[in-house]
Amino acid sequence: MTTEPLSLAKYLASSRSEFALSEMNQYLSRRCEEKELYELLKSHFYDLDLFCDAGYKCTKLVKHALPADEAVVRELEALFKNPQLPARVEKLINSYIERSCGKDWHTGETGLLIRENIVKQKEEYWGGKPQYPKIRIISYLLYHFPVYFCQFQYMLLELWRGGLLTNKMSILDAGAGPGTITLSTLDFIRKLQDVYSKNKIDVKLNIRIDSIERASENIDCYKELTSLYLSGLKQEDTIVTINEPVRSPIESAPVLPNVDLMVFSNVLAEMGAPPSQRAAVVERAASGSENPTVVIIEPADLDNSKALRVTQHALVKYGFTVYSPCSFIWGLECSGENCWSFQELGNIRAPDFMERIANTGEFYRYINTDMKFSFVILRKDGLVKHKYLAKGKFMRLSNLKKHIEKRVNIAVSVMSGNLGDEKTFVYKICDGTTSIPCYAVLPAYHISDNNSMLFEAGYGGIVEIYGTLVRENKALSSYNLLIMRNTMVSVAG
Ligand SMILES: C[S@@+](CC[C@H](N)C(=O)[O-])C[C@H]1O[C@@H](n2cnc3c(N)ncnc32)[C@H](O)[C@@H]1O
Repeated sequence: MTTEPLSLAKYLASSRSEFALSEMNQYLSRRCEEKELYELLKSHFYDLDLFCDAGYKCTKLVKHALPADEAVVRELEALFKNPQLPARVEKLINSYIERSCGKDWHTGETGLLIRENIVKQKEEYWGGKPQYPKIRIISYLLYHFPVYFCQFQYMLLELWRGGLLTNKMSILDAGAGPGTITLSTLDFIRKLQDVYSKNKIDVKLNIRIDSIERASENIDCYKELTSLYLSGLKQEDTIVTINEPVRSPIESAPVLPNVDLMVFSNVLAEMGAPPSQRAAVVERAASGSENPTVVIIEPADLDNSKALRVTQHALVKYGFTVYSPCSFIWGLECSGENCWSFQELGNIRAPDFMERIANTGEFYRYINTDMKFSFVILRKDGLVKHKYLAKGKFMRLSNLKKHIEKRVNIAVSVMSGNLGDEKTFVYKICDGTTSIPCYAVLPAYHISDNNSMLFEAGYGGIVEIYGTLVRENKALSSYNLLIMRNTMVSVAG
C-alpha cells in the first residue's frame, strides 16, 4: 500500500527542493487524497529529510544548527527565569495521578501510601536499587519529575546556545522513566518555536524521539503522557514522531543508528555495574551514531557525582571529548578521580500536586524543588565549549604544593556555585591537572572591582586570577586560593 507512494516520495525528495503532495497524483497508479498521502508518508518524512506542512507542501530539510541570535537567546532565557512546570504539563501529570488513584489521591489511605512510597523511593534511590511498581510512578511524578523536567530545559538551553540542537534531530531518551526528558524537550521546542515565530524567524523542525526503558509500567506511563502532550500540540512548524519505546535494559537494547542527541538522565546510577563500566554501556549505545551529543545527568550527592566523573573519564578513554562543563585548560586529560562538582540552578516553584501531597506536619519531606545536579556533555568530534588554553604565565594547580603562602597566577574553571556563605564566598576551581580539591575563597570584605568577575563566570566558566595567595587546608587535604582586594580576576575563554 505504501510502497508506490513511498518510492515516489523518495524520488521527489531527492530531486526537488519542494513539491506538493497533490503533485504525486501525476505519477501514481491510484489517485490518493493529500491527507491520505500525508498519513501514509508521515513516519517516513524524517528519513526522507522532508518537512510537509499543514497545506501538504513538502520542503527539503537541510540539517543545520537552530538559530540562536542574541535577541532570541535573551527572549528564550527570559522564559526560564522563574522555573516551574508549564501549566499544561502540570495539568497532564495531575490528571494522570487522578486517573490512577482517584480524585482524592492525596488524602486518606492513598495519600498515606504515596507518602510512604516517596520516602522509600528516596532511600532506595540513594542506595541505588530502585523498583517502580505502579504506585511508585505516582511518587516519582510527584517528587522527582518536576525538578528533573525543569533542570533539563537548562541543559537544552546550553545545547541550543552552543549550536548543538539542529532542525532535524533524532533523540534517544535512555532510561526514559515516565517521559521526563521527552516531555521537557517537547515543551522546550514549543517555547523555542513561539519565540522564533514572534521574531518572524521561519524554522521548520523534524524531530524523532526514541526511548529505552526496562520497566513496563514506566513505558505505559511514558506512552500515555507523551501521546496526550503531543495531541495538544499544533504541529505547524514542527513535526514530532515519538517511536514505540524499546522495552529492554540499555545494556542489550538494539543500537540505534544516527542519533543526534542521547540523554541518560538519572539512569546510570541505577546500573549495577561500577562507574567505569557504565561507560561501556554509553559507548555501545552511541556506537551507531557518527557524532552524537551525549548528555549524562546524575544527582549532585557526593557518591553519584563522583561516580559520574569516573564514567566520564572512561568515556574520554573511549575517544569522547568533554564539551562541558570541564575544560582541560592545560591540554591534559584529568583523572576524573575525587571530583565532586555539580551545578545549582535554584528552586522551581512547587507544583500544586506536590504541595497537596506535602500538606502534612512534615511538609519538607515531600517537597523537592532544588535544581542541583551533576552533568557532562560529550562529543566525538572534539568540540568543546571553551577552547581556552593556558599559557606560561599561569601556575598549574598541580604545582601549588611548592608555593604555599605565596601569591600565584592561575587559570581555572569555576566548578561550583558558592559553597560558602554571604560572609565568605567559596568556589570549587579546577584546571584539569590535579585531583586534590582546590577552592577560590573570597571573603566579603575583600570584594572589589578587581575581583568581582569571579561571580560572573558561571558554572564551567573560565577565569584568570592574578596574585592569589595559596593556603593549604591540611584537615581537608585541599588548597584554598585566597582572593584579596587587589587580586585581579577576569573572565576568559
Ligand atoms: C530515576 S529514573 C529516571 C527517569 C528519567 N530519565 C528522568 O530523568 O526522570 C531511572 C529510569 O531508568 C530506568 N532504568 C534503570 N536502569 C536501566 C537500564 N539498565 N536499562 C533501561 N532502563 C533502566 C528505570 O526503570 C527508571 O525508569
